[in-house]
Amino acid sequence: MKSLRFYSSLFRRPETQVTQYFKRFCTVSSTYVSNSYEKVLKGGGISDSVREAQYAVRGEVPTRALQLEEELKHNKQRPYDHIIFCNVGNPQSLENPPITYVRQVLALCDFPELLNSNLFPADAKEHAKRILISAGKGGSGAYSNSGGVSCIREDIVDFIQRRDGYESSVNNVFLTNGASDGIALIMKLLVSSSNSGVMVPVPEYPLYSALLSLLGAKPVRYYLNEDRNWSIELSELERAYESSKKAGISISGIVLISPGNPTGQVLEKSNLEEIIDFAYRRRLVVLADEVYQENVYTKGKKFVSVKKVLRDMPGKYQDVELASFHSASKGFYGECGRRGGYLEVANFNEEALEQLYKLASINLCANLNGQIAMSCITRHPTQGMPSYSRFEEERSNLLSSYARRAEMIQTAMNNMEGCSCNQVEGAMYAFPRINIPPSAQQIARSQGKQPDVLYALSLLEHSGVCVVPGSGFGQKPGTFHFRTTILPPEHDFPKVMTSFQKHHEWFLNKYKA
Ligand SMILES: Cc1ncc(COP(=O)(O)O)c(C=O)c1O
Repeated sequence: MKSLRFYSSLFRRPETQVTQYFKRFCTVSSTYVSNSYEKVLKGGGISDSVREAQYAVRGEVPTRALQLEEELKHNKQRPYDHIIFCNVGNPQSLENPPITYVRQVLALCDFPELLNSNLFPADAKEHAKRILISAGKGGSGAYSNSGGVSCIREDIVDFIQRRDGYESSVNNVFLTNGASDGIALIMKLLVSSSNSGVMVPVPEYPLYSALLSLLGAKPVRYYLNEDRNWSIELSELERAYESSKKAGISISGIVLISPGNPTGQVLEKSNLEEIIDFAYRRRLVVLADEVYQENVYTKGKKFVSVKKVLRDMPGKYQDVELASFHSASKGFYGECGRRGGYLEVANFNEEALEQLYKLASINLCANLNGQIAMSCITRHPTQGMPSYSRFEEERSNLLSSYARRAEMIQTAMNNMEGCSCNQVEGAMYAFPRINIPPSAQQIARSQGKQPDVLYALSLLEHSGVCVVPGSGFGQKPGTFHFRTTILPPEHDFPKVMTSFQKHHEWFLNKYKA
């Protein structure tokens, strides 16, 4: 409207006439374009592997949620006044606050004049100065070494050594744009042809299958055992391996995610040992996705890194190749927008390291803000430092709130008829299993939809809650799930849980036989 008024006064013509001019102009220009030039990027001109890659976290249901949000802004009447986005693990978008110390160091690195300000604590200033000296001329505005700023690589090495009690080395550590980029680097190194395969869990965080599709390789899917809190069964690994091998797939790696997304389990040390033994026998590189290592809520459960488990094992396992991933996006930092992460490799030979370094250098380097965030995560304030009490208060408030939210969500799901939810031991998600009545399954299929997509769309339209259907992560045939994050603000939880429950009752009633 505003621009119409602007052009009307510019051309000194009434608004109706300006609208007619625009319509005529658009018709003429589109005729010109369609007659004169055939676009390259259409039909078969668009890469098949891109078409095949799936990423449900931002798929059909979230797309509809964005439309509904737009409609609500334009006062369309609905039984709710806003959409609650429970589809993405994006903590700060749901009022989970950032950690002050991280923001202070980032601000100081980006605008070093602030080093003269009294607003910032001495430890944050020291931290920023150290990074700026190591980054060299241009600071956070310049490319760094392809592996990352050297003092930040050292921070990561110190962090890993403190965590595991085993040696690490800067040559084995690469700063990446989020964990996603590190995972993509390793996948590129691992797969080389259309009969290459990597084992991935089902349900799976869909990045892995999407990357394999993009690289023209095959996901070799193994099922997690829902009845044993989504643990990994050796017999299932053997089944998946053997059947793909028979189909001519050459398998070179195995992915495990702990704490799990979408399944929320924290794998036991004994389970990790079994997987390492399997990888050793089958000669597989282990890809350990540990981005939720700070997010463990169940008493008695503890995150233990695959690197530590491997180093604790007998000598014959000490050559198993391992790539581990961490991120600035999760934990209690939740700095998803910074795109910070690191990749640590263990037991890679010189040749593999050289090729990995080359791959990293093709991207020049990871973004500097993400690298600085990773430095703050791995070298955070400790007791006695000026920022410690504020840091510790922010950290423990958020983690204890996540633990309460995990408990609330799991209780609410288990109280719904025909719904069961394993313990949310860690990460940021619940993955409840839902019974979908046969008539609803039939209707979904007649619309060309998966039954759990019908359920998730119905939940969204009915109550404004946006979740991701289980089919987007893969699930055992005949079972249905959805994934919800535990991230909505704690004060909204009673309302959100009631929305889940009311919709569920309504859905079962609507479709009951
Ligand atoms: C299991 C898992 N791995 C990797 C990622 C990617 O994280 P990043 O934001 O660091 O790229 C995510 C993001 O949700 C995730 O859940």
